[in-house]
Amino acid sequence: MLDIKSGVRHNRQSAAMRPVVNVVSEAEMRAIADWLAALK
Ligand code: HEM
Repeated sequence: MLDIKSGVRHNRQSAAMRPVVNVVSEAEMRAIADWLAALK
């Protein structure tokens, strides 16, 4: 998410994702990542 937001990761797919992460803060990304990592 950070790489897509900063532009380090960029491809035709991430172009769809970028407007999304642009409005997500780092603290929110942390919360999302913690939630995803906890899924079984
Ligand atoms: C809050 C909502 C969203 C979250 C938390 C989220 C999260 C993520 C994450 C973590 C990845 C990276 C996956 C990986 O590298 O394995 C990703 C990739 C991607 N997401 Fe989302 N996403 C959201 C909404 C959306 C929406 C609305 C779209 C489409 C309109 C979208 C399209 C994509 C695409 C196309 C990729 C692949 C990008 C690439 O390959 O660089 N996402 N998303």
